[in-house]
This record gives sequence, C-alpha cells and structure tokens, in this order.
Amino acid sequence: MSGSPVSTHSPGGGEEKGPDANDEQKAQMEQAYQQMRRKMRMTKLNDDVRHKFMVLSGKGGVGKSTVATGLALSLARMGQKVGLLDIDITGPNLPKMLGIEGTQLHVEEGQIHPAIGPHGVKVISMAFLIEDPDKPVIWRGPIKLGAIQQFIGDVAWGELDHLIIDFPPGTSDEPLTVTQSLPNMDGVVIVTTPQDVALLDSRKSINFAKTINLPVLGVVENMRSYTIHGTATNNDGSPIENATIEVNGPAGEKILANTNSNGDWDVVLDLFKSGGGESAAEEMDVPFLGSLPFDPGIVRGGDDGVHRIVSEPDGVTAKAFESIVSNLIEKLESSDEGGVTII
Ligand SMILES: Nc1ncnc2c1ncn2[C@@H]1O[C@H](COP(=O)(O)OP(=O)(O)O)[C@@H](O)[C@H]1O
Ligand SMILES: [Mg+2]
Repeated sequence: MSGSPVSTHSPGGGEEKGPDANDEQKAQMEQAYQQMRRKMRMTKLNDDVRHKFMVLSGKGGVGKSTVATGLALSLARMGQKVGLLDIDITGPNLPKMLGIEGTQLHVEEGQIHPAIGPHGVKVISMAFLIEDPDKPVIWRGPIKLGAIQQFIGDVAWGELDHLIIDFPPGTSDEPLTVTQSLPNMDGVVIVTTPQDVALLDSRKSINFAKTINLPVLGVVENMRSYTIHGTATNNDGSPIENATIEVNGPAGEKILANTNSNGDWDVVLDLFKSGGGESAAEEMDVPFLGSLPFDPGIVRGGDDGVHRIVSEPDGVTAKAFESIVSNLIEKLESSDEGGVTII
C-alpha cells in the first residue's frame, strides 16, 4: 500500500493512514505552530509592555469598568502609551464607555490590531466581535480561556507603558488565565464602594490576589461622595457673599455651607459611610489609592460614550483620577524595584 496517496480503511483495525489522518496531522501541526507563535508573542508582549495590572472587584456594578477606563484615559492624558483589555467577554462594555463601539478591528499577518480610543488608548474587547450586542454570548470554559489567550497573544499591542485589564465581576478563572499568560503582572487594583457588603467582597478579592501571589497595588473607593451645589441669594436677588448658610441635606437635615463672593456654595455628602474603603485597605494591610465621587456625568458618559475625563478634563472626577493615578504610578515604580510583594 505504500506509495499510494490514498489508503483504504481496513476493517481489521491497525493504523489509519487515510487523507483524514493526514489532514488531522496537518491541523495538529498548524495548531502547535500557532500556539508556539502565540507563546513567542506573549514573551515579546512581556518585554514590550512596561506595566501590566488587572482591575478586580468581588461584586459587579461597583465601577470596575469605569475605573479601568478612567485610569487608562488619565494615564494616556499624561502622555503614557496605554492598552485596555476588556476580558468581560459575556458583557463587554468598555468600547461603549469610550465611544468606539462599532469599530471594525483589522487583522494583519495573523495579528489583531486594537481599536484606538480617546487620547490614543488601544482597546481590545469582545464587543468588537459580537454581531448583536444585545444577544448574550454563552462561552464554554475552554473556549473562553482560548479567547482570552488569543486576546493577549494574537493582538498587536506594540510598545506600551501600561496594559490595563478589566474583568467581569467575581474572582473566577479569568484572572488566573491572564496571570498565567502574562507572567510578569505588576499586580491588581481593587475597586470597591464604601458600604459593608461591597467591602466584604473586596476583602475576598484582596485574599484572592494574595493567594495567586499577586501584589495588591491598592484599593480604589468608588462613589464615595456626592457634591451638591447652589447659589444663595437675598430676597432682592443679590448674592449672599462670604457667609455661612444652612442648606437642606437629602434626609432633611440642616448642613452648614460657606458661600463665596458670588454666593455660590457646595457641600460634599458622603453617600454611604465615609472612609470604608480606606479602613478596609488599612485592615488588610494593602495601599489605599484614593476615592472617586459619585458623578452623574459618569453615567451619562457611560451611555453616550464621552467619558467624564474627556468631556471635563479639569472636573472633580478627572482630578480624583489624577490623584489615584499618581499614587498608582508610585506603587508600580516601587514594584519595579521589587518593593511590593505580598505573599
Ligand atoms: N463614580 C461614579 N459616579 C456615578 N456613576 C458611576 C460611578 N462609577 C460607576 N458608575 C455607574 O455605575 C454603573 C456600573 O459601573 P461599571 O463601571 O460598569 O461597574 P462594573 O464594571 O464594576 O460592573 C454604570 O452605569 C456606571 O456609569
Ligand atoms: Mg464591568
């Protein structure tokens, strides 16, 4: 039979050497090559990307994607080269938050080129690949993990100062897969809101990070406070200048506020409980990076695709992000020196 390009199947058993087997072999080889290429690219990615960190939270809806996006934009505004990887493959929403949904990703020489968001942030998200964003995508475990590896190894990220990875809620296999694919991870940023339930979940995330030997770069407390504004005027409409006035708080309580020379005043209200994130960080012996106010503009921005940092670069939210980013950079630089290692 040797020499014959086509061998027939013998019912007596023995090795099958039909065209199917050859194709299978070829496919296996191709797969092995592909894996090798991916592995090489991952190694290169490790060299090309200065800092990589993940944004985690135990609970959904605490603002993880908002924080990941805000950190990316804030860093990019400082002139850093930033990549944003949306690992939430069942409910990806970063492209919408950045106003770049509907972007067609282009593939060149087998590599996916990221979409470019505001301030040049490079973005990869399953949202670019899903045909109908309202249809839920159900991924079986291994396929999901394969997709994540592909997002890391098959993307032409280029040289980056920061690669920020956003996750779906909870601490499941995704962060583990990412850590295995990108071994030199700097650490995790944990997002929480100040109330007890969310804090409890963030303690779980901190413990999770410690279990997989990843440094906790710090905790960000989101939706800590809400600022109300107003202008105090006399009966004749003239401003009440430089005075202390009483305003009604949300539960009808009286709050003292100081007016400026135009009669304008503002009061910062703690939404849940003040300093919850800070004390949780202290208790768990991890750094506290700062807090963000509740800002209705974030919700609008999330819906209409213009992030607060882009629409109001000097607003309170942008300023709060700047302060968080400067604390974060400090932690990242000290992790360069091997300073922060929590085991
Ligand atoms: N600081 C904030 N002020 C106001 N709304 C916020 C703030 N942070 C997040 N949100 C809103 O809360 C919702 C959940 O935020 P998101 O970032 O998607 O959370 P997660 O990724 O943790 O599920 C979104 O509608 C977002 O616009
Ligand atoms: Mg999210």
